[in-house]
Amino acid sequence: MAVTRGEFQSRVGFILAAAGSAVGLGNIWGFPTQAASNGGAAFLITYLILAFVLAYPALMAELLIGRHTHRNMVQALESLPDARPLKLAGKLTGLAGLLTASLILSFYAIVAGWMLGFSASYPLGAAGLMEASEWLVAFTPSRNLFLMLGFMGLTMAVVLGGVENGIERWSRRLMPLLIATLIALAAYVLTLDGALIGLQAYLLPDLGKVLSGDLLLDALGSAFFSLSLGVGTMLIYGSYLSDQENVPRVGAQVALVDVGIAVLAGFLILPAMYVADARGVAIFSESGGLLSEDTLIFSVLPALFETMNTTGVWLATAFFLLMSIAALTSSISMLEVPVAYLIEQFELSRRRATLLAGVGIALFSALVVLNFDALFGLVITISTRYSQPILGIAVCVFAGWIWHRDALLRELNKNDTNAVNGLFWRIWPFYVKYFCPAIIGIIVIQSIL
Ligand code: PFF
Repeated sequence: MAVTRGEFQSRVGFILAAAGSAVGLGNIWGFPTQAASNGGAAFLITYLILAFVLAYPALMAELLIGRHTHRNMVQALESLPDARPLKLAGKLTGLAGLLTASLILSFYAIVAGWMLGFSASYPLGAAGLMEASEWLVAFTPSRNLFLMLGFMGLTMAVVLGGVENGIERWSRRLMPLLIATLIALAAYVLTLDGALIGLQAYLLPDLGKVLSGDLLLDALGSAFFSLSLGVGTMLIYGSYLSDQENVPRVGAQVALVDVGIAVLAGFLILPAMYVADARGVAIFSESGGLLSEDTLIFSVLPALFETMNTTGVWLATAFFLLMSIAALTSSISMLEVPVAYLIEQFELSRRRATLLAGVGIALFSALVVLNFDALFGLVITISTRYSQPILGIAVCVFAGWIWHRDALLRELNKNDTNAVNGLFWRIWPFYVKYFCPAIIGIIVIQSIL
């Protein structure tokens, strides 16, 4: 029995869903904090170059393969080659992508749960419910477990609705809210004392840092993580895209929204840090660098909000809700990867597939919560620093070497009969064939050595 597949109902719906997958904690938290500790604009410039030179072509590889095959990552990569050994390689790559998406979701749900906890804690505190408010922000296994399960429940509820009524509908509601909240918060913070120094730290490059190997790998990892690459989320969203759409164009729009929001988040986070500094909150570590990562989000910003009384409660709630929304539109795309596979490979109903994948990932995530010190960092490093770029190379190899050139051109011709004369056709096939795998490979190997 053939499974009826979902399809995005409109171009905007697709762009918001794919940008929703791309825009997440990586943009609003990861990018600005990495920029802060890696030479400000030096990191920004490196990131922008890598995003357009390496990540955009890889994004296109996923979207095009998805749209061409209208299948999930495992079946899509399996169906591209004719030779048996290559089919097996495609299947294994797809399964590795599925596993990586699940691993990423297992740690992402923990962090997103913290965001939910912080966003509820401020209004509860203001209403006098101090005990609940404090419990939600104290780092305990029971709180981490509770919030992770809550966030996984939300993710499963959206995915259960399917492509049109779950993913597309919620992305259309949440993404405009996210963008409006981000702009409003940045605009407000920029009016406060100290914000301009933060702006300088963000926009003046520390050129000494531009060419260090670590910075390159960080910026590459950041760009890959940010565009949700290598793990089949973009491939599966591409597979739900109508044949009428021009993939290179909508892909560029998705990349622009993603990069734009990361850059915009820098206009909020860095100025906010220096506003905190002006109010006496410590923002530098003992070694003199800016505090970053979890300290920044969970101590510097809360300390800043505390100096603002009632305004602080509003700002804090809006900020952590913003983070929660960004995380949710990303987590649904991660869960959709195994769910689509279970539906299409084993003909499970969407309900069963969502339950099976969601509960499985939540159980693993619970294991990470209960062995936090040993597993949390390890899962992040394996899935995002190594697995994602390596899978990115594999997808480029499939698109550039294994997929027949005429089949690719037929795919592009679906909605652009002049594709053969277009810039995309002249540059991209060469690009994904040689340039992307080589450069990504060099950066990954350099970091391992
Ligand atoms: N792009 C998301 C972010 O920037 O937070 C993270 C992500 C989503 C990574 C989906 C991988 C993925 F499959």
